[in-house]
Amino acid sequence: MRFSKKTLSAAIACVAAASISFSASATTILKLSHNQDRNHPVHKSMHYMADKVKEYTHGEVKIRIYPNGQLGTQRESMELLQNGALDIAKSNASELESFEPAYGAFNIPYIFHDRNHFYQVLTGKVGADILAASKGKGFIGLTYYDGGARSFYAQKRIEAPADLKGMKIRVQPSPTAVNMIKLMGGSPTPLAYGELYTALQQGVVDGAENNETALTNSRHGEVAKYFSLDEHTMIPDVLVISEKSWDKLTAEQQVAVRKAAQESMLYHKDLWTKMIAEAREKAKSAMGVSFVSVEKQPFIDAVKPIHDEALNNQAIAQYVKEIDALASN
Ligand code: GCU
Repeated sequence: MRFSKKTLSAAIACVAAASISFSASATTILKLSHNQDRNHPVHKSMHYMADKVKEYTHGEVKIRIYPNGQLGTQRESMELLQNGALDIAKSNASELESFEPAYGAFNIPYIFHDRNHFYQVLTGKVGADILAASKGKGFIGLTYYDGGARSFYAQKRIEAPADLKGMKIRVQPSPTAVNMIKLMGGSPTPLAYGELYTALQQGVVDGAENNETALTNSRHGEVAKYFSLDEHTMIPDVLVISEKSWDKLTAEQQVAVRKAAQESMLYHKDLWTKMIAEAREKAKSAMGVSFVSVEKQPFIDAVKPIHDEALNNQAIAQYVKEIDALASN
């Protein structure tokens, strides 16, 4: 069969068009791992982000969320992410400190004066610089999610640092968290979050520290009846993406993912306020947890050396100064 030049070029154009439309309709699926349940505010906020990503990329990029640590602990997820087996992980600044020292600035007790100061940092230059700091280490940060204030909880009231003496307190695998408990007089015990319920129940640890969702979503309120409001840290959750996965996205898709991530952080801010109030109420009325007011100053005094040392630590001094400078805004 012979084709005229015209028919042939029309056929080539057709094949080219087909392959363009094929590549445009090819969907990139990004797997996201985290260790909270489906009713946790952060799961809902990431769901919101996934919907936005799909909308902004016209379905070219979809995020599939795996909750409950199905794909591993936070640490394991970070390892999977670094070797390219996972695309996105929701971790937090404590866990990330061992992977990127910049996140250590968030872990300094009492560095944030209030929630407004915290948001000034998350949405400002220093927040963006910390998200970008891990470039070249296999992952980059996309956004932060409010994780509230962390306080101690146990089967007894913790009203002063002296009450921590002889207590094994579960911490995240973060050098700053370990140091904090030591300075307050307790014995730090690093454990993955998923192991904590059983550890509290069996007395492997005597107490832990977290926000109120630990009592309800993770049911720790069944085995720890006193939540002492010393509010020593405000540690953000952090959404990170593997550099391999990031580089596979087109420039437009990257813009869309960043925009969706940013918007989900603001969505989360209001959701957090609402859901934390609900969690407190549920912990009190349905689980019999007592919320204990404490005088914070003795806790603040005990951990002051952490802030002082951070200002002499090359890796984070600049971030700490910038965070401090935002305190009065
Ligand atoms: C918070 C945070 C989790 C983290 C947990 C912990 O709940 O959202 O990402 O694993 O603290 O204490 O380990």
